[in-house]
Amino acid sequence: MKFLKLLLLLFVVQTQAQQGGMWVPSLLKGMNETEMKNLGMKMTAKDIYDVNQSSMKDAVPHFNGGCTSEVISPKGLILTNHHCGFDAIQKHSSVEHDYLTDGFWAYKMEEELPNENLTVTFIVKIEDVTTQVLAGVSSLSSEEEKQKKIQENITALSNSLPKESWQENKIRTFYEGNQYMLFVTETFKDVRLVGAPPTSIGKFGSDTDNWVWPRHTGDFSLFRIYADKNNRPASYSKDNVPYTPKHFLPISLDGIQEDDFTLVFGYPGRTNEYLPSVAIEQIVNELNPAKIEIRDRALKVEDGFMRKDNAIKIQYASKYASTANYWKKWIGETQGLKKSNAVVLKKEAEKEFQVKISKAGKDQEYGSLFSEFEKNYTEIAPYALSRDYFSEVILRNTELPGIGFKLFQLEQVYNTKGEQSFTDRKNNLINSLDEFYKNFNPAVDEKVFEQLVELYATKSPKQFLPSNLTNVNSAKLATDIYSQSKLTSFSKLKELLTGDSKTVIANLNNDKGFQFVKEVAEKYLKEVAPKYDALNLKISALQRTYMKAQLELNKDARLFPDANSTLRVTYGKVKGYEPKDATVYTPVTYLDGVMEKYIPGDYEFDVPSKLIELYNNKDYGEYGENGKMPVCFIGTNHTTGGNSGSPAIDANGNLIGLNFDRVWEGTMSDIYYDPSICRNIMVDIRYVLFIMDKYAGAKNLIEELQLVHPKKNNPLKKNILHKKTK
Ligand code: ARG
Ligand code: GLU
Repeated sequence: MKFLKLLLLLFVVQTQAQQGGMWVPSLLKGMNETEMKNLGMKMTAKDIYDVNQSSMKDAVPHFNGGCTSEVISPKGLILTNHHCGFDAIQKHSSVEHDYLTDGFWAYKMEEELPNENLTVTFIVKIEDVTTQVLAGVSSLSSEEEKQKKIQENITALSNSLPKESWQENKIRTFYEGNQYMLFVTETFKDVRLVGAPPTSIGKFGSDTDNWVWPRHTGDFSLFRIYADKNNRPASYSKDNVPYTPKHFLPISLDGIQEDDFTLVFGYPGRTNEYLPSVAIEQIVNELNPAKIEIRDRALKVEDGFMRKDNAIKIQYASKYASTANYWKKWIGETQGLKKSNAVVLKKEAEKEFQVKISKAGKDQEYGSLFSEFEKNYTEIAPYALSRDYFSEVILRNTELPGIGFKLFQLEQVYNTKGEQSFTDRKNNLINSLDEFYKNFNPAVDEKVFEQLVELYATKSPKQFLPSNLTNVNSAKLATDIYSQSKLTSFSKLKELLTGDSKTVIANLNNDKGFQFVKEVAEKYLKEVAPKYDALNLKISALQRTYMKAQLELNKDARLFPDANSTLRVTYGKVKGYEPKDATVYTPVTYLDGVMEKYIPGDYEFDVPSKLIELYNNKDYGEYGENGKMPVCFIGTNHTTGGNSGSPAIDANGNLIGLNFDRVWEGTMSDIYYDPSICRNIMVDIRYVLFIMDKYAGAKNLIEELQLVHPKKNNPLKKNILHKKTK
C-alpha cells in the first residue's frame, strides 16, 4: 500500500514536471529540484546556479540581448543559432565572400571576424530586492504615483548596490510586480564570428519549415568572446585575448532517446501565462485574426515581387522572413488556443478560484477581480484593436509610412526640445536611413501600402479613423503618395531634410507622404494611445493583484513568473506527440529526412553537394548512431522567443542540443501550455559536430571541445582521449 502510494506520488510529480514553467535559476532548490530529479536529473540545484562557485549559469550568456548562447570551450568559444548570428554573417558577406550561401569557417583564430555592436552578457549573481524596490510604495494611492516611486527606487538601487566597475546592476520585475530581482551582469563587447554553415544547412527548410515538426535544420553558428588581458570586458582590440570562462559545457556524444531528461537554460523573452479568459478570447477572436490578415496581405504582395525579380528577392528576404515568422506563429497560436479549449478551461478555473477567494475570506481584497477584468478588457477592446492596426500597418509592415513616422517624431522633437535636439536627431536619422534605403523598393511598398491601408480603413474601429482614411480609395491614395512624396528614395529624402529647421519643417509638411502619416499619427496619439495606456495601466494593476492572490491562495500550484528576458531554467523530457487524429510524431529526425525534402536548386530545400556525398558514404564518424545521422529532436521544455540558441542539457550537465524553435501546434504555450502538444525543437549536438568536423573540416574547433560519453561504460577513458584542450 505504502509502495503504491509512493508510486502514485511519483507519477503525479512526474506528470506535473511536464506541465511547463520557466524557473528562476537561483530559486530551484525545493520543488523544482525534486521534480527534476524525478525526471532523471543527476545534478543538484547548486550545479546549475551557485553564487560562490562557478556553475552552469556561468556558461550561458545572453546573446546580443535577444538570443541565448553557451560557452563550449575553455577559450571562450560560444554556440548559438544560425538565425541569431544571421545579421553578423550577412554583414561580412559580399559577392566575393558569400558566407550566407557558402558558410564561413575560421581555421585559425586570426581569421575570426570582429562584429561591431555585437555583445554577450553573463549573469554574475541574482538577488531578491523586492523589499527595497517597494519601499514607500504601499502608502501611495494612485497607480501612477506607485509606478513613479518604483522607478525612482529602481534607479537609486541600481546606482547604489555594490558591483565591480566593469559590471552592471539591472533590476527586473517578476510575477507582474510582486517580486523584484537584481541581476549583476558583465557584458563583453568583442565577439567574433568563428563559424557558420551555409544557409542550405543553417536555415534548411526556411519559412516553409519554420515552426514545423518534423524539422531538419542545422540552425547553429559559432562565435568567440574576447577579453582584455585581465579577462574583463573590453571594446574590440587586436590585442584582446580569448576569454577564459568560469565554466564551459562538456558535450555528450551519447545522444538522446525518448523520455531522456532535458533541461533548457536561456533567456525567454515574453509570455502571458496568467491572462484572464476574457483577454485570451480577445486575442483569439480579434487581435490575432487582424494581425494575421494584415501580414497575410503584405506577404502575398512581397512574395509576388520576389518570385519575379531576384534583386527584390535579396532586398526583401530578411524582411519577409521576419514578417512571416510571427504571422505563422499567430496562426498556430490561435488554432492551438482553440483546440486546447484554453478559454473554457480558464473560465472554469476562474470560477473555482472565485469560490476559493470567498472561502479564504478575501472577497474584500480579491472578490471583484474577474468582474473588473471583464469590464476593463471590454473597454480596452476597440483601443487595442486600433493600436494593432496602427502599429502593424503604419509602423511595421509598410516602409514609407514607417519613415514618415520617424520624420513626424523629428518634428515633435523640434516642437518640444528645440533647434539643437532637432539637428542632432536629423543627422542621426540620415545616417541610419542610408542602410534602410538599400533594401527599399518603392514599387513593392506601394502595393503593400495599397493593400494594408484598405484593411486599416475598412476593418479597424471606425470611430478612430482619421479623415484621410474615411471612404478612401486606397489605390488612388497609394499612387498619389508614391508618385509625389520625397520619401521614396534616399537622395530625395536628403533633399527634403536640407536647410535650416524652419525650411525642413515647412518642406516636410508639404510632402504628401509626410502629410498622410502625420494625420494618421496625430489621430492615433490623441484618441487611441492615451486611453489605451490608461486602461492598460489599470489592467496591469489588476494582473498584479490577480498574481498576488494566486501566490497567496494557490500555494501548492506550480506558479512560475512570466518570461521577462531574464535567465530561466525549463525542463522536461524528449518526447513525441500527436498533432492530429491518427498522426503520431516521433521525437528524432535524421539526415535521411533532409534527403527526402531535398529539391535541387530550390531556395529553401537545396542541399549542398558535400553533404549529399557524406550522406551517400554514411561518413558520420563518431557522431552517427546505428548508421544514421540524427539531426533534430523535440522535448517538453517550455520555451519561447529568446530561447533561440539555448543549450539543451542532459541529466549530468552535458550539452546534447541547441534550442531553436517550437512546434506549430504548440505555439500557444506563450499563453497556455498544454503538455500534450507543446514541444520545443532542438538541433542534435552531434549534427552540429558532424557539420563542423566532417562537412567543414574545422578540426581546430573540435580540438577545443570537451567531448564526453556519460552513458557509456568507460566514460573517463574516452574523456581523457578527447581532452586535448589544455
Ligand atoms: N521560429 C523561429 C524563432 O522564432 C526561427 C525563426 C528564424 N527562421 C525563419 N525561417 N524565419 O524565432
Ligand atoms: N526561434 C525563436 C527565437 O528566436 C525560438 C522559438 C520560440 O519562440 O520558441 O528565440
